[in-house]
Amino acid sequence: MIPNHRGAIDDMAGKPSPSQRARQLREELNFHNYRYYVLDDPEIPDVEYDRLLRELQKIEEDHPELVTPDSPTQRIGHEPVAGFEEVQHLEPMLSLGNAFTREELSDFDRRVRDRLGIDEAIEYMAEPKMDGAAVSLLYTNGLLVRGATRGDGATGEEITHNVRTIKSIPLRLRGESVPESLEVRGEVYISKEGFEKLNEQARESGNKTFVNPRNAAAGGLRQLDPRLTAKRRLEFFAYGIGGHDGVEMPDRHSGILKMLGDSGLRISPLNEVVSGIAGCQGFYERIQSDRDSLPYEIDGVVFKVDRLDYQARLGFVSRAPRWAIAYKFPAHEEMTVLRDIEFQVGRTGALTPVARLEPVFVGGVTVSNATLHNIDELRRKDVRPGDTVVVRRAGDVIPEVVSVVLGRRPKDAKPVELPKECPICGSQVVREAEEAVARCSGGLFCPAQRKEALRHFASRRAMDIEGLGSKLIDQLVDSGLVGTPADIFTLDAETLSGLERMGPKSAANLVDAIARSKQTTLPRFLYALGIREVGEVTAKSLATHYSDLERLAAASLEELKEIDDVGPIVAANVRTFFEQVHNREVIDALLNSGVFWPMQSASGKGSRLEGKTFVLTGTLEGMTRDEAKELIEHQGGRVTGSVSRKTDYVVYGKDPGSKLSKARSLGVAILSDKQFLRFVSH
Ligand code: IVH
Repeated sequence: MIPNHRGAIDDMAGKPSPSQRARQLREELNFHNYRYYVLDDPEIPDVEYDRLLRELQKIEEDHPELVTPDSPTQRIGHEPVAGFEEVQHLEPMLSLGNAFTREELSDFDRRVRDRLGIDEAIEYMAEPKMDGAAVSLLYTNGLLVRGATRGDGATGEEITHNVRTIKSIPLRLRGESVPESLEVRGEVYISKEGFEKLNEQARESGNKTFVNPRNAAAGGLRQLDPRLTAKRRLEFFAYGIGGHDGVEMPDRHSGILKMLGDSGLRISPLNEVVSGIAGCQGFYERIQSDRDSLPYEIDGVVFKVDRLDYQARLGFVSRAPRWAIAYKFPAHEEMTVLRDIEFQVGRTGALTPVARLEPVFVGGVTVSNATLHNIDELRRKDVRPGDTVVVRRAGDVIPEVVSVVLGRRPKDAKPVELPKECPICGSQVVREAEEAVARCSGGLFCPAQRKEALRHFASRRAMDIEGLGSKLIDQLVDSGLVGTPADIFTLDAETLSGLERMGPKSAANLVDAIARSKQTTLPRFLYALGIREVGEVTAKSLATHYSDLERLAAASLEELKEIDDVGPIVAANVRTFFEQVHNREVIDALLNSGVFWPMQSASGKGSRLEGKTFVLTGTLEGMTRDEAKELIEHQGGRVTGSVSRKTDYVVYGKDPGSKLSKARSLGVAILSDKQFLRFVSH
């Protein structure tokens, strides 16, 4: 813990001098920086950190002579550099040999033991292999004086101004006895989230996207302007040392990592000492199964003989140590041939180019389709059928085509043109000026758009029709059973059970779910209609403003624009939607088939359930019977024990009793516990 100098000095000698205060602030800020970026365990909220930083900035502005090189204000303060200087590493930066199979790994272990003449299991330090860029940090008497890229291993490029912007790299080492000099080796990387954000921004501003997080990190380190580096949110893990002087060395690699951790450097929490080949294999499998859930990319694991005397005896072969090996995971990127580019049509008619690929095993699965995002992206990457492309599939992100291997382009490869007609329904494709997307103008006439509209209509946050999934919708549309959302409510168990993968039981369940979905709320209904750019929030605003569908349908453009969250574009979309005769017809059909939402009464809360009779059955989720009863009575309703024609609603939970079937036979409205909660809380 950092002592509270301010309090002590205030008490003893009044206000601290600017120089004392600057020192306290530096220590305090560096400490909190360490807690946040290295230990990932912040002690104070961000606002407090910012406040302390501003206080230090102010002192340093007034007293420039108080600025020190390890001041937290000095991370980005450097002007752009003109170019990169070459630097000589104190000790060369080595690379690693690779293993791709269990056999190659056990060959490595056998070689190690043979050379050492040891029979028993070797202890290895097992570490994740970070997929970023290697850097070497030189600390002199504890102060970070130089950062360098790997370069050719002997000579790298000086990037001190950039590594200083990385918050998990300490500007000064912690601890009492610091080495006279120490080269810290480690990996600079960018998180998956940081990478996605970076590419999103690049896409939005029409710039080239980064091929992978490794390139984004390596590119970030090679910026001339440190302010640009700082924007990439780079992070750092230390995994070893190079040259060193004036420090007692531990006798194991695990000891070195501990020493680095104690000095304030960030060490991977996944590191572990394992024993023998079985320990290595176990570590590999554990890390591989966690790979997708890690916040950053790793491309394998590294095993290093833990004992340093063994390392010394083993030595090197051609720039790679005999005492370490990288055991690689299946690649996240592969090359394959792109057979064709097709266009998929989404709910709003947007055409998305999709690459059809020669199947390729990447990121642990076989991929034969990959997205190309939109037409602009397709043009920028200049992807053509017949091209050899790099395909990337990382984590649960959809596979994408990242780039073309131009050297392998067939002579006759031609770029694809945006189709003039929708590939599904043949309607005209339109592209509004300024918009990156091209759309099919067929509206609900287009089966692709119809399917997407139905998926949206049935989705959980819209009408919430349980069991009406994507495949089923395809079947229903393709067989002509369903054309509009209203047709869903005409389906009966007999028709449904004739479909693929539909037994009588699931058909009956679906009919129930469809019947239950009839009772909804106005915001959900509006959202379910799929009016362009009317999301849940806008749907709520519209419903609150009008509370009546007829009034909303008749509202003028001017009126609509006045509503919260409704801009001119959304207002126009709402108008256009209700002006279309077929949309009005679908709405009428929905209402005729029994879709309804209890009216929000004018007097508001307390009277919604006035005079209504409820029966409860089964175990209700998230509430007891008594709580449910209280809720109902509080809003003016009544709870009775048995179902009759006079019952207004039966609310059922898990394992409902005969009351539910009775309600069905009498045609009484049925609510699931979830629907009930929505009902009473609106
Ligand atoms: S040790 C003496 N440990 O992999 C061996 N390298 O080809 C020096 N890497 O350029 C490297 N994670 O950037 C080591 N835990 C780890 C690593 C790691 C990633 C990178 C490193 C190096 C490359 C090896």
